[in-house]
Amino acid sequence: MRFGAPHPIPYQGSKRLLAPAILSFVPRDRFKRLIEPFAGSAAITLATAQKHMFEQYVIADLLKPLTDIWQEILRHPAKLGETYSALWYSQLKGDPAKRFNEIREQFNEDQESAKLLFLLARCVKNAVRFSATGQFNQSPDRRRRGMCPDTMDQEIRAAHRLLNGKCRVICSDFREVLRLARRNDLVYMDPPYQGISGGRDRRYIKGVLRNEMVEALVDLNNRGHYCPVNDFECKHNSFRSNRLAVILTRFDFNFLRPVCEG
Ligand SMILES: C[S@@+](CC[C@H](N)C(=O)[O-])C[C@H]1O[C@@H](n2cnc3c(N)ncnc32)[C@H](O)[C@@H]1O
Repeated sequence: MRFGAPHPIPYQGSKRLLAPAILSFVPRDRFKRLIEPFAGSAAITLATAQKHMFEQYVIADLLKPLTDIWQEILRHPAKLGETYSALWYSQLKGDPAKRFNEIREQFNEDQESAKLLFLLARCVKNAVRFSATGQFNQSPDRRRRGMCPDTMDQEIRAAHRLLNGKCRVICSDFREVLRLARRNDLVYMDPPYQGISGGRDRRYIKGVLRNEMVEALVDLNNRGHYCPVNDFECKHNSFRSNRLAVILTRFDFNFLRPVCEG
């Protein structure tokens, strides 16, 4: 029997474990749609879907093969599970680390979603890492083989059942996704941590500059339907109406309060 929400994509930075704390800030029956512009493994989407908290979901991310995994989960879950299984078993036929490197090389050529799923399951700390030229360059974890195919298949199918027919997947920069936001939407944003968004050790495909985020939030506010809420600080009564609201993780936006409140 399953207790937690499904979580098919192993992903460093996932909010799976924090989901109960984050969800405790979200009022029930106030919003109709949840939008996740920095979805990654979409832990918050999955956790809210399991509790039937929204009618519709938008999963969005800038990393195309990652959003392709989500498309496959929604459209072809069995095929994704089978392809993952074939990749996973192929590592047992010889040197697993060598096989990982071959699949990584192929992925950097063809960007195939099932290969990314395998690489994420199998790499150090389940952490995406990209070179300056956008090549996936994370190393294999030498102590683990990655989520076994049967478990992966179950996670994929469970996520499919929760989201099928209710979820739109978008590959885009978060600013484009925010343009979709309307009344009755809740936006949950978990941007790349500010400390690792610049510099050479780029964790995700792209970082988000602080001023880009500030501009996007001020733009939402100017469109007249922005209610600033910071998780770990927000209270239920911060959601004053069914105006669009934003929950933002790991981003200190106290300085925005004078701009956005009122
Ligand atoms: C901290 S992770 C999100 C983790 C997610 N909350 C989860 O539960 O797995 C940040 C995500 O933002 C994505 N990203 C980075 N820059 C972006 C941008 N400009 N627009 C949209 N997504 C972006 C990365 O690909 C990464 O998946």
